[in-house]
Amino acid sequence: MDGNGRWANERGEERRRGHAAGVNAVRDIVTECARAKLPWLSLYALSTENYRARPRFEVMWLMVLLKKFLIDERPTLMENDVRLRSTGRIDELPAAVVKELRKTEALTAGNRGMTLVLALNYGGRREIADAARAIAEAAIAGKIDPAVVDEATVGRHLYDPTMPDVDLLVRTAGELRVSNFLLWQISYAEIWSTPICWPDFRKPHLVEALAAYAGRRRKFGGLLPGAGR
Ligand code: FPP
Repeated sequence: MDGNGRWANERGEERRRGHAAGVNAVRDIVTECARAKLPWLSLYALSTENYRARPRFEVMWLMVLLKKFLIDERPTLMENDVRLRSTGRIDELPAAVVKELRKTEALTAGNRGMTLVLALNYGGRREIADAARAIAEAAIAGKIDPAVVDEATVGRHLYDPTMPDVDLLVRTAGELRVSNFLLWQISYAEIWSTPICWPDFRKPHLVEALAAYAGRRRKFGGLLPGAGR
C-alpha cells in the first residue's frame, strides 16, 4: 500500500495524514474485493523494516490507526462475510493491538466469503528463515527426516500454511519492487503496477488491475499452446 507519504507531501500535509487517508482506501478495497468474490486478499500494512526503521512517532500512529480499524471494521467484515487473519511476527506488536487483532480474528473466524490477511511486522526473508529454523528443530527432535524435506515441507512451516500462492501482486505509487513481500508465495505471481498512490486507490483501479490479470497468459514455466516446435 505504497504512496501514503507522497500523497500527503503533495498536499503539503504531514505523512500521518496520508496513512489516515490510506485506511479509507483499505476499507473500500476490502469491501470491493469481498463483493467481487475474491477468495483471498493480503495487504502489506507494515513490514519488519517499516517497524524497525521508521520514526517511532510514525510507527505509533500506524498502530493507533490499525487498532481503530480492527475495532471499527468488525460490523463491515461480518456484513461482507470476511474472515480476518494476520501474518508476521505479531507478538512483537503492542499488546493492545494484538488483543484487538485476536478479537477480530476470533469474531470473523467462521466467515467464508473472503479471507483478508494483514501482513504486520512482516518480512518475507524472515518468514522463510523462521520456517527453516522450525524444520531444523523438528529434524533434531526426530520428527522430520531431512532427506524428505521438500517445497511442501517448507510450505507447511510458513506462518500461515493455508495461504495459497499469490496470483496477482498489485503495486501502487509506481513501485516496481517486491519489497520482501510473501517471497515464497509470489513465485509465479503476475505483477501489476499503477502510479496511483494508495490513498487514491479505488474500485476503478481495482477493476483495471483485475482486467489486466485476466488478460495475462500464465505459463508456470511451461509452454502455451502454439508456442512452436
Ligand atoms: C507505505 O507508504 C505504507 C505504509 C508503511 C503503511 C500502510 C498503512 C496503512 C494504509 C494504514 C493502516 C493499515 C490498516 C490495515 C488499517 P509510505 O509511507 O512508504 O509512502 P511513501 O512511499 O510515499 O513515503
